[in-house]
Amino acid sequence: MKLLEPLDIRNIQISNRLVLAPMSRMQANEDGTVSERMPLYYSNYARRGVGLLMTEALYTDKISGRAYFNQPGLCTAAQRDTWRTVVSAVHDMGGRIFAQLQHGGRLAEPGLNPQHIAASDGIAAGNTWQTGRPNAAARAATTSEIKQIIECFERAASYAVEAGFDGIEIHGARGYLIDDFLSASTNRREDEYGGSLENRLRLPVQIVECVRGVVGKRPISFNMSLYKMDDLSYTPPGGEAEMTSIASALETAGVDLLHVSTRKALRDEQWGEPLVKVIGAAVTRARVIANGGLKTLDDCSQCLALPGVEAVSLARALLSNPDWLSMALERRPLETYVPGMEREALRIA
Ligand SMILES: Cc1cc2nc3c(=O)[nH]c(=O)nc-3n(C[C@H](O)[C@H](O)[C@H](O)COP(=O)(O)O)c2cc1C
Repeated sequence: MKLLEPLDIRNIQISNRLVLAPMSRMQANEDGTVSERMPLYYSNYARRGVGLLMTEALYTDKISGRAYFNQPGLCTAAQRDTWRTVVSAVHDMGGRIFAQLQHGGRLAEPGLNPQHIAASDGIAAGNTWQTGRPNAAARAATTSEIKQIIECFERAASYAVEAGFDGIEIHGARGYLIDDFLSASTNRREDEYGGSLENRLRLPVQIVECVRGVVGKRPISFNMSLYKMDDLSYTPPGGEAEMTSIASALETAGVDLLHVSTRKALRDEQWGEPLVKVIGAAVTRARVIANGGLKTLDDCSQCLALPGVEAVSLARALLSNPDWLSMALERRPLETYVPGMEREALRIA
């Protein structure tokens, strides 16, 4: 069964192709350090056979980068030191773990950051995810702020290396800052960071290049999606060709894994299965992790049979069933995800 086959990415060996998708649990300490249950919470997934774990989104700066209250960070030495305990607990169980680095951008909880910045002036539709309050008006980042944001990703990546993480995942999805720059619907800048696709790609590419500079041979994953927290139907102006160009540019910049987040990876909606296939066909060296709506072993097998797909990631199915792999292999009934479960205390067994 392909799901159970090992996977080598750059210099690391992963025991199988089951990935824990990044999932914000918003239960870190106030100062963004890892809280008491987090090492056991993460290592429990490794103990239960998940080959590769993506952390929840970690903020990279305290000026504008946080997305949620009680989100963990990776921008101070104290935060880095507490991540060491998570990483070694996961390694002790034979698992691998990547740090997912994020900038919250326009989707940050109101009042959380001293500066609320985005690609362009504006306000995301609807309410925030964590507290359900109306999104706050954001202003366009200045060029010097963009430079600082890139430097903060670079610093977070070097802290991740020092903490022992096996790789980095860059959160480039769902309308947070990097995706905000990448998307024509939200990026209305007229400088070198907006307008043409090449310009919209500039921030993501510069972040990948900087991270590559500090992580050396470790793998870099890029989490991408078309749908956004405040816009489920975004279509890029250049259609499939644009997505192909984005995947190629990221690969050239140094990405080893394209983590394609869809709402349903197996659904034949415009950007479900077709997106996975487009990205699978676009990459040459990089591998694709497919994500979205996968619940059963059969879902995973079907997805792993798509051209170019080398791994699958599950979020909600693993949240409601930490022992998903054994349960699925033994065809035992699975628990269903109930919205809001992520706010419950971290399960450590
Ligand atoms: C509770 C929860 C928290 C999430 N947090 C993150 C996150 O921190 N970073 C991220 O890239 N995606 C996040 N996601 C999106 C998931 O990684 C995944 O793309 C999405 O849930 C679809 O996969 P699924 O159908 O297997 O749940 C989150 C999803 C859920 C349900």
